[in-house]
Amino acid sequence: MKGTALSTSLFEPIRLRELDIPNRVWMAPMCQYSADSDGENIGAPNDWHLQHYVSRAVGGAGLVMAEATGVSFEGRISPNDLGLWNDVQTRAFTRLVDQIRSHGAVAAIQLAHAGRKASTAPPWEGEGPVGAWTPLGASPVPFDEDHAVPHELTREELRGIAAQFAESAKRSLEAGFEVVEVHGAHGYLLSSFLSPFANRREDEYGGSFENRVRFPLEVVDAVREVWPERLPVLFRVSATDWAGDDGWTPDDTVRLAPLLAAHGVDLLDVSSGGNVPHARVASGPGYQVPFASRVKHETGMAVGAVGLITEPAQAAKILADDEADVVLLGRELLRDPYWPRRAARELGVAATERPVAAPPQYARS
Ligand SMILES: Cc1cc2nc3c(=O)[nH]c(=O)nc-3n(C[C@H](O)[C@H](O)[C@H](O)COP(=O)(O)O)c2cc1C
Repeated sequence: MKGTALSTSLFEPIRLRELDIPNRVWMAPMCQYSADSDGENIGAPNDWHLQHYVSRAVGGAGLVMAEATGVSFEGRISPNDLGLWNDVQTRAFTRLVDQIRSHGAVAAIQLAHAGRKASTAPPWEGEGPVGAWTPLGASPVPFDEDHAVPHELTREELRGIAAQFAESAKRSLEAGFEVVEVHGAHGYLLSSFLSPFANRREDEYGGSFENRVRFPLEVVDAVREVWPERLPVLFRVSATDWAGDDGWTPDDTVRLAPLLAAHGVDLLDVSSGGNVPHARVASGPGYQVPFASRVKHETGMAVGAVGLITEPAQAAKILADDEADVVLLGRELLRDPYWPRRAARELGVAATERPVAAPPQYARS
């Protein structure tokens, strides 16, 4: 369908630090649970990951973000997650990054530690605990009765995990990634430190807001220390626990954003939920956009909006209304890897324009 040409900034480049990203339609990180769970290639991207990510680069996403990638064996959600802690993984990622970049997209990676939600089966096997290893957490409080009680991390172990994030960031750079996102959302380790539901610590990492944000900021510092000044670092946050004022709230997110910015985060990727099973999520089209918009307007920080953004006009309006600087698409890009090219066509953006240019092999289409 060809629509009336709308003026849209969706396909305008965005510059973060010294990196130009060709457009503002980005692929959200999405676990594929498809890596080897043991052996020589444990955690390494394989042919599935190659075709999956490269399709979205060919489809016109300005930035393709590799899924939550464990910074350590214990940091994976499932035994089939990607990981980035050894040379075999680094080499496999290098091949993937080369391919993503060769189609004009910027390659990003989300570095993650699954914390108390680790050691569970992939969704299509029920997400139950696999008991392959003991999950690590802020406090010995399980996510729910089906999850294992996590080991409460000591201060020294926390320093070790921050160092693992730094090591994975170094390897990400070596593999050619130009953007790294620290996963601070969805109830995984960093997110669980933020939420009073998961963090019951009585030391300097728990209790007050300042204490609960301490470890996520230390991880950002560790990553920033090894990540080049010229390249951006993103942080994904759960803007709310969706569980009332006793949990992490949108106000807390607005308070955290400038701290992240001061520690070197260039864009906040605003998601929500994941810390408690009793969350009451008010889901619907663009349901997380207001959280991103609040951060943008109250702090001036660059933000990404994500969550049920599925229509080209909807995405264009989010940017036109200045609610976010970029949009990230998840499931819609699973359904249609060529969504950005289709959106450009529907919005009347010339298909030959560089930000959504087709590969030469497809130029006649
Ligand atoms: C299959 C699948 C895997 C996901 N894996 C991740 C992940 O690795 N990291 C993350 O931060 N979010 C993950 N998410 C959440 C998405 O990034 C996105 O925030 C969410 O799906 C909402 O956006 P959507 O409505 O466009 O799908 C995943 C979602 C799906 C559907």
